[in-house]
Amino acid sequence: MSTSQEIKPVRKAIFPVAGLGTRFLPVTKVLPKEMLPINDRPLIQHVVEEARDAGIEEFIFVTGRSKEMLEEHFDYQPELMQTLKERNKLYELDLVRSTHIPEGRFFLTRQAKPLGLGHAIWCARRLVGNEPFAVILPDELIQNDVGCLAQMVDVYNQKGGNVIAVEEVAHEEAQNYGIVDTDDDLTQKVVSVKGLVEKPAPGEQPSNLSIIGRYILQPEVFKELESLERGAGNEVQLTDNMAKLIGRQPFHGMKFKGIRHDAGRRAGFIKANVAYGLADPKIGGNVRKEILKLADKIREDEKLKGAA
Ligand code: G1P
Repeated sequence: MSTSQEIKPVRKAIFPVAGLGTRFLPVTKVLPKEMLPINDRPLIQHVVEEARDAGIEEFIFVTGRSKEMLEEHFDYQPELMQTLKERNKLYELDLVRSTHIPEGRFFLTRQAKPLGLGHAIWCARRLVGNEPFAVILPDELIQNDVGCLAQMVDVYNQKGGNVIAVEEVAHEEAQNYGIVDTDDDLTQKVVSVKGLVEKPAPGEQPSNLSIIGRYILQPEVFKELESLERGAGNEVQLTDNMAKLIGRQPFHGMKFKGIRHDAGRRAGFIKANVAYGLADPKIGGNVRKEILKLADKIREDEKLKGAA
């Protein structure tokens, strides 16, 4: 059990990226969904940057077939960099440089069968070894100056054990998420977790505090995952196996600061693009103008509909 004396630093992060991206077909027929752009960079780059800003040193991708493009994206690109240098495009050169994950810090392992998130994490067990690690689901973007994982590392450094990011959702939405059970007041920033349920049946959720795809976990969870027991949706669930650590190790839920975008769904993806575009100093003003024009058009159309 972790005590405050033995809080080991979080140096490694797992990115499960084996999913087929069926919600985005046909675009994902060839293009991995993690390469879809949110403003000027692919989804996966947003979360890799979040991890880097939180002090993560090793990036572990759990991939599947046809995901080679992800590997290319984070590789060194000498020809492109040389061309940009020759054309004196220094801003662009910097952008390309910033996508490179240095040698010895980028690891890939494959999830051969789509058996669920728990199984994907288990696939990375040997690359993580016996130390705490982070998990980031690239579908979920948290927009904030201080990234969600950096906020969690702060909490972890004080409490140790396991820390998951949580957010209150509407009661009817709880069935789509992993849900936290706690005796603590939900207005607190950090709550002590006493139970976890993956996708509870409607009306059976212990709270409306949902898991949002950011985790700091202790390596003991790999032992639990080993049985590869199926849970909700007949998948190996990370939530079920994290739940087994409760009582043996500290386990906290942290409400994060920031705007959450569910970029794994088309409407959330479009919302994320609008929000990141608005926040971009280069194009934010123009994006705002375009949105206001669209909003006027929507109002106009609704007025006409109402009059008809
Ligand atoms: C996964 C987790 C779930 C969590 C969710 C957040 O579910 O299993 O606990 O709440 O991510 O996005 P999925 O969305 O993969 O079904």
